[in-house]
Amino acid sequence: MTVEINKEDIFRLAKKLCETPSPSGFESEIREVLIEEIRDYVDELWIDSMGNLIAKKAGQGEGKVMIAAHMDEIGLMITNIDKNGFLRFVPVGGWSPRILPAQRVLIRTIDGNTVHGVIGIKPPHIEKPEERQKVIPLENLFIDIGVTSDEEAKKLGIEVGSIAVIESTVERLGNPDVITGRAFDDKIGVVTAVETLKVLEDSKVDAYFVFTVQEEVGLKGARTAAFSINPDIGIAIDVTIAADVPGTPEHAKIVKLGKGPAIKVMDGRAGSGLIAHPAIRDLLIAVAKEEKIPYQLEVLPGGTTDASAIQITREGIPAGAISIPTRYIHSPIEIVHLEDVTNAVKLLAKAIKKVDSAWINNVLRRRIK
Ligand code: CO
Ligand code: ZN
Repeated sequence: MTVEINKEDIFRLAKKLCETPSPSGFESEIREVLIEEIRDYVDELWIDSMGNLIAKKAGQGEGKVMIAAHMDEIGLMITNIDKNGFLRFVPVGGWSPRILPAQRVLIRTIDGNTVHGVIGIKPPHIEKPEERQKVIPLENLFIDIGVTSDEEAKKLGIEVGSIAVIESTVERLGNPDVITGRAFDDKIGVVTAVETLKVLEDSKVDAYFVFTVQEEVGLKGARTAAFSINPDIGIAIDVTIAADVPGTPEHAKIVKLGKGPAIKVMDGRAGSGLIAHPAIRDLLIAVAKEEKIPYQLEVLPGGTTDASAIQITREGIPAGAISIPTRYIHSPIEIVHLEDVTNAVKLLAKAIKKVDSAWINNVLRRRIK
């Protein structure tokens, strides 16, 4: 490997991507950032008709591997501007209403400008005792942008359909290898894919790195990209739940921060998401053992990734996933460990290099007669 995997680069890129808003369906801004980041490292680069960014890193043509990381994040969409200039919104993707009150938001106007606002909340002084115990329903929340009329809001470029994200920067914590920010789901997966394509060379297979759109609203970009690429296997890179915090019993921690990337075994309720193809799961485990890369096995009881859409595209595409252990997913204070990211890059790069026509035709699938 000529390019070194470097934690500083990972931090820098994570910061750049996380601080670029990209709610599902509105990924054009982050896509441009990514194009500049990867164009010198890939053989072909294009945007498909869904908006996915696809980068091909040519190998020796023994097969095709698709790597998917979604560049969209959960966000908010403005639905109404009242006559006093307050904004109502709906979620884009899976928000917990517990997260939103008292947050600062960044709104993108139709001409691409930024307007800052806050999600207002009643002060405790005038809260009724019963209100104190209750989660405020999403439909009762509003954004305050400090104006006094709908005309003023519209003059700023805010319209029905304008999008917003919670404002949050990427910062290092007490342990400088542990970082916090918004939308590590899945920009930390995007970073992993970018760093992998930079270090990957001499693979037997052609690698297609797909930065997918609209994962958070139904795994949409991955589905159509998998159809057009028609790969032999697909591997999604996404986050998974590190619930290794006070109050979670040992048996329910799923994975732990800093203990290595997770190799997916199953996700979704009762396997309704992905049951990883055994040959891919076992390949990833074998590579981790061989290269002495720490790893964890992941069974995630809810939620899934692009891999489950890839798996049931066309006549079926064997799929698996590598997950970055992440605390507080779908909040503006997600936490990841940079060591888990560098180890995920190593695992993914080494695994792609292991795939060749013999493995595809003898291990992955097999003709009996
Ligand atoms: Co998500
Ligand atoms: Zn995700």
